[in-house]
Amino acid sequence: MINPYESITLMEYRKYFKYFCIFTSTTVLLYVILTKYYTNTLPLLLSYTKEYLNSNNISITNESKIEKIPPIKEFQSSLSDYHPRLPIHIFTQNLSLIGNTSKLILLGNGFFGDQTWEGSFRPNKTSTEKMTSLYCPFLSNRCDITSDYKRFRQADAVIYHMRDGVDINRGKALRLPHQRFVFALWESPAHTANLQAYKEFFNWTMSYRHQSHVVTSYYSGNAYVHTSSNYYRLMLHENATRKLNLTTKIRDHRPSDEILQKKKLGTAAALISNCGGSSRRLQFVKELQRHIDVKVYGRCGEACPGNMNCREFISQNYYFILSFENSICTDYTTEKFFAALEYPIVPVVFGRSNYSSFIPPSGYIDTRQFSTMISLAKYLNETRSNKEKYLSYFSWKKDYVWGLGAFFTPFCDLCLRLHLDSKINIIDDIHKWWFDNTCESPILPS
Ligand SMILES: *[C@@H]1O[C@H](CO)[C@@H](O)[C@H](O)[C@H]1NC(C)=O
Ligand SMILES: *[C@@H]1O[C@H](CO)[C@@H](O)[C@H](O)[C@H]1NC(C)=O
Ligand SMILES: *[C@@H]1O[C@H](CO)[C@@H](O)[C@H](O)[C@H]1NC(C)=O
Ligand SMILES: *[C@@H]1O[C@H](CO)[C@@H](O)[C@H](O)[C@H]1NC(C)=O
Ligand SMILES: *[C@@H]1O[C@H](CO)[C@@H](O)[C@H](O)[C@H]1NC(C)=O
Ligand SMILES: *[C@@H]1O[C@H](CO)[C@@H](O)[C@H](O)[C@H]1NC(C)=O
Ligand SMILES: *[C@@H]1O[C@H](CO)[C@@H](O)[C@H](O)[C@H]1NC(C)=O
Ligand SMILES: *[C@@H]1O[C@H](CO)[C@@H](O)[C@H](O)[C@H]1NC(C)=O
Ligand SMILES: *[C@@H]1O[C@H](CO)[C@@H](O)[C@H](O)[C@H]1NC(C)=O
Ligand SMILES: *[C@@H]1O[C@H](CO)[C@@H](O)[C@H](O)[C@H]1NC(C)=O
Repeated sequence: MINPYESITLMEYRKYFKYFCIFTSTTVLLYVILTKYYTNTLPLLLSYTKEYLNSNNISITNESKIEKIPPIKEFQSSLSDYHPRLPIHIFTQNLSLIGNTSKLILLGNGFFGDQTWEGSFRPNKTSTEKMTSLYCPFLSNRCDITSDYKRFRQADAVIYHMRDGVDINRGKALRLPHQRFVFALWESPAHTANLQAYKEFFNWTMSYRHQSHVVTSYYSGNAYVHTSSNYYRLMLHENATRKLNLTTKIRDHRPSDEILQKKKLGTAAALISNCGGSSRRLQFVKELQRHIDVKVYGRCGEACPGNMNCREFISQNYYFILSFENSICTDYTTEKFFAALEYPIVPVVFGRSNYSSFIPPSGYIDTRQFSTMISLAKYLNETRSNKEKYLSYFSWKKDYVWGLGAFFTPFCDLCLRLHLDSKINIIDDIHKWWFDNTCESPILPS
């Protein structure tokens, strides 16, 4: 016979055990969400499957031990597996986690005076179809991009381009708690106005800085994609099933003797049209010219002949192109670098970027690795005359294709993040984030 006293305590115990389980699972779940513990434990990749997530399926078999954490419908900020080693979301997220709703992106204040960013999206011009012109056809009915301010209250994100005027009070008056105000900028801090009026205004950042919520690296203007990457396979799949007629381009990974023999005008050249600039790049060039031949083209030097693309002209006639930025700021790397990669010429870089996050280190020469101008000049001179060594700078290109990108592909990433990241985020001090310790005055090699 069961002792009634015992049976009551057993029932009580069961009741409390139930509460204990609920409490434990909630605590564990909160811990997982709040600590981002899952970022390292759950590598999520692109997948073509259309399954949707059974949310929060955590089974506790042993009081305090988690048996299994299933995929969580949460956003993962991780680096792509191939170069560029950047947190580009369309390269890293599990697309099958996206629900089948659509998010509305409002272009809040134009782009250099162009209210609808007409000139920026290709090839479609109407605002509702902007999304379809991007290199993420798999997201084309998952987001809509508009510049119709009357739809403000429907918007999930409002983009403010910081080189255009922002009506802060109007934004504050109209905003809804779930909306993301997005700080968008392609310029360096050296060319940005004071941002102190934007305390607790923005939720996300969209810039070339790698720590942005959406990375808009100039990479996307000349995007290269590894042919083993999931994104490339996905795009081929999309091309076939949606009849997109995509064209990709292969770049020379071993320039021919014919190409090399044409390089007769000299060792190095630069294309510079802003002759000032805090990077003092013209001083650098002048110093280097004392040891080796360097030609300057553009407004700060000679005009390129005829109406030929200047970068193409330099690539045909020189061995190295000095891809020097106008300011030396964290991650600030522009088309001066990325466009050069499409040509048979070796970029020489000078900036505050980890260039090996963009391409393998075998593909460029970083002036920061030389302590004197003479050693840099000597290295360039030697590499020029050593054919195999010179050619080795191109070999990384054999695994990549070009042509699957556009300057505004970051909107694909914004769309994806709107779907997958539900976390509240408030940027307290955007001025500090943007300006503090982000740019430097260069110290030129002696
Ligand atoms: C992506 O998510 C789906 C649905 O949860 C899951 O079945 C699949 O295994 C995930 N893919 C990867 C590569 O993690
Ligand atoms: C939870 O996961 C188990 C196996 O991992 C599965 O059998 C069960 O159906 C899932 N429950 C729900 C509600 O999805
Ligand atoms: C419960 O977990 C403990 C410690 O992790 C382990 O020693 C024990 O064998 C587990 N019991 C069961 C029933 O799984
Ligand atoms: C997706 O949308 C269709 C209608 O377009 C709807 O019937 C279906 O239930 C939706 N599925 C999910 C998972 O939301
Ligand atoms: C926009 O582009 C899509 C696909 O590229 C095409 O189907 C559609 O007709 C275009 N719309 C306009 C207005 O050009
Ligand atoms: C791709 O080419 C085919 C055949 O020329 C054409 O029918 C189709 O409309 C094209 N698709 C797009 C998206 O342009
Ligand atoms: C895309 O598909 C078309 C045929 O529909 C094909 O001609 C083209 O080569 C494909 N593009 C790529 C990059 O494979
Ligand atoms: C630069 O980027 C590469 C590739 O992502 C990484 O392996 C390396 O640790 C980075 N270097 C620094 C100094 O951050
Ligand atoms: C460059 O190399 C050539 C021949 O290889 C040599 O004559 C010249 O002195 C070198 N110049 C420098 C700056 O090292
Ligand atoms: C966005 O920022 C505003 C203002 O700081 C804040 O009230 C709101 O909760 C944030 N929303 C999200 C979704 O992060």
